[in-house]
Amino acid sequence: MKIIKVSSFAGASEAIPTVGNFGGSYYFDTSFAYLEQIVARDNTFIITDTNVFESNQQLFKAWQTIILPAGETHKQQATVNFIIDELIARNADRTSFIVGVGGGVVTDITGFAASIYMRGVKFAFVPTTILSMVDAAIGGKNGVDVGMYKNLVGLIKQPEFLLFDYSLLKTLPHPEWINGFAEVIKHACIKDAELFALLEQESIENFQADIGKLANLIERNVQIKTTVVVNDEFEMSDRKLLNFGHTLGHAIENLYLLPHGHAVSIGMIAACAISESTNNFSVSDTNKIKALLKKYHLPTQYEYDKQKIWAVLKMDKKRVSNSMNFILLNSIGEAIIQTIDMNELENLIH
Ligand code: GLY
Repeated sequence: MKIIKVSSFAGASEAIPTVGNFGGSYYFDTSFAYLEQIVARDNTFIITDTNVFESNQQLFKAWQTIILPAGETHKQQATVNFIIDELIARNADRTSFIVGVGGGVVTDITGFAASIYMRGVKFAFVPTTILSMVDAAIGGKNGVDVGMYKNLVGLIKQPEFLLFDYSLLKTLPHPEWINGFAEVIKHACIKDAELFALLEQESIENFQADIGKLANLIERNVQIKTTVVVNDEFEMSDRKLLNFGHTLGHAIENLYLLPHGHAVSIGMIAACAISESTNNFSVSDTNKIKALLKKYHLPTQYEYDKQKIWAVLKMDKKRVSNSMNFILLNSIGEAIIQTIDMNELENLIH
């Protein structure tokens, strides 16, 4: 991996690994306008959504832009078909380049559509939310939901580059900041106890007020996720740890249409409770995680219908035959993959 760091901030990105043949370049702290130095404007198609387009209209003026309806409910095959129809209508060919500008829904759909159009054209992302900067745009998993089943159809293909323009966060609504911090806290819980301690000292408001602090936080999280993906792109082992809080989280998110970060937050606390009963994870550490999630305005419990949740969980991609890999904690900063029998899991959920 080649890292191009165009950043005025001393971030952790220097340490992003450069091993393997994974992925492309990261342009940190780079203006969106720099895009025209990287790709040919006349053969590039930008895919974004109505929210990002309306907040940043001047950015897109000189670009060919395909605008999607905003929201997770549009992360469906019908939207991919719409993109493909638009690419055909605009004479996109195999040499065309596609750039997804937006949050996780936009980047996931863009990566998927680009990977299947004419059997694959090159693509890149400009993430515009905290969640997509620290998580969704990184890792190459791209796809769509099928009805209630999240990311059931998709593939793993890495973008050519990611461009991080932190000024795009200025128009990010507050609930989206909260959403993104659920993944930041997840990274701290599974991999980085020091980051956990840092987050305990800080707050969303502090990061919003100090762009340098925010840049360092984002780059540290990019490093965590990238390191995991570089070492296990196809999720044979360590990459599974990134699913901490996501098994139950995805089921709750889809059933109750909760924001992703809220659902993951609830899922992380449920996973902590399971960790307490199966791994001697300490109650005081669960309480610390709960307090941190609350500090970042995230919910830690939800009254869900256990029968309905169980019906969705049974269809989770992580189920293999009669067991499922569940991510639990040994301690804050250290997660493990535990295979749990479906009958035992059903008891734990109930
Ligand atoms: N697109 C998110 C990931 O690859 O994990």
